[in-house]
Amino acid sequence: MTLPIFLLHNGSSALSSSAAPEKASRHLVYIKANSTSCLTVRSEKLRVKLLTHGQNRIEEMAAAEIPSVKLMDGTSIPVLGLGTWKSKPGEVKAAVEAAISAGYRHIDCSPVYENEAEVGDAIAAKIKDGTVTREKLYIVSKLWQTYHEPDDVEAGLKVTLKDLQVEYLDLYLMHFPIGFKQQSGHTSARDANNQIITTDRDYVDTWKAMEKLVEKKLVRSIGVSNFNEKQIDRILENCTIKPVTNQVECHPYFNQKSLSDHCANKGIILTAYSPFASPDRSWASPDEPKLLEDPALVAVAKKYNKTVANILLRYQIERGHITIPKSVSPDRITQNKHIFDFKMEPSDISHIEKLNRPDGRVVLMSFCKDHKYYPF
Ligand SMILES: NC(=O)c1ccc[n+]([C@@H]2O[C@H](COP(=O)([O-])OP(=O)(O)OC[C@H]3O[C@@H](n4cnc5c(N)ncnc54)[C@H](OP(=O)(O)O)[C@@H]3O)[C@@H](O)[C@H]2O)c1
Repeated sequence: MTLPIFLLHNGSSALSSSAAPEKASRHLVYIKANSTSCLTVRSEKLRVKLLTHGQNRIEEMAAAEIPSVKLMDGTSIPVLGLGTWKSKPGEVKAAVEAAISAGYRHIDCSPVYENEAEVGDAIAAKIKDGTVTREKLYIVSKLWQTYHEPDDVEAGLKVTLKDLQVEYLDLYLMHFPIGFKQQSGHTSARDANNQIITTDRDYVDTWKAMEKLVEKKLVRSIGVSNFNEKQIDRILENCTIKPVTNQVECHPYFNQKSLSDHCANKGIILTAYSPFASPDRSWASPDEPKLLEDPALVAVAKKYNKTVANILLRYQIERGHITIPKSVSPDRITQNKHIFDFKMEPSDISHIEKLNRPDGRVVLMSFCKDHKYYPF
């Protein structure tokens, strides 16, 4: 049954032929449904499928707009999150608030982005104004490389928890498989040539210390980031708790086909970072190909009456990935969410797969390329 529905945020509901108010997506919306049926809600702004089971059922409309997927530890993660790397203090608070107001629940953070305190202010503000509860949010952060010594792992997390103003994280990732010698906190020690000093600490030891954070209920799930296939396998062979995700660079110029298949075979979902190939990174070259302007993608976007950004994000969703685009623009944050009302034909996906390039990776960490645990 497909019906236009008028959604109210005061606890009642009514069917109507008029378009749903834009405001509805910003509030808790209660939908009563009395029959066992599949109800499709359509409007300019909202489109969501609700399964009803014969009893009144309450759904949170804004959160339902971005679907979640089950991770192997039984928890669920929204498949689209907001990235916060390079989002400047002074901008990131407004961006995170705009995202939560727009229905995002998953926020991707890291202490090394040097903005977690401001992200924390935004989260606190949106909880305080009643837009969301902590339980409805999905907050991710990462263990920085200066905290790889097992005795330091909890201390690294505690800094993040304090800055984000939360009691626990939904997901904590090991940011990179290589440890850095700590000077203090998140600052690395450097040698006489001002080069960061790496350590030989085995990431398996670090992982075991991260498992303790789950036991202590300081984090609900743990995962890895920037791990290669062999490193994933080593963790799996030595762990008590398996990583739920591997967060890695992934976009059509660097599609990670082999790693994606490898992770999927082990029940690990790939999280695609830099889905737009990170055009605002400081080392981007003016001559490099621009993913967001690629003519092949422009043609696909035209076909579906979508933006190239929408196509790049939908491409990840169709591959079963989670993705975390960064934006500080409220309009783009909203635009990036409009990817759940269309599906691409397999031929378009195959076309996009052909854009893969041997030099497509943009995040390289090449200064530690000689380290035994360098993953790329
Ligand atoms: N684990 C890791 O090692 C790692 C590494 C890199 C990234 N990440 C995570 O992944 C997130 C995303 O990656 P990223 O920040 O590298 O880059 P990205 O998401 O690929 O691209 C961000 C850039 O795209 C622009 N943009 C956003 N939406 C757009 C739209 N609809 N149309 C046109 N341009 C748009 C942004 O500009 P505006 O902000 O001006 O909108 C920004 O310049 C990061 O923020 C971080 O959370 C993790």
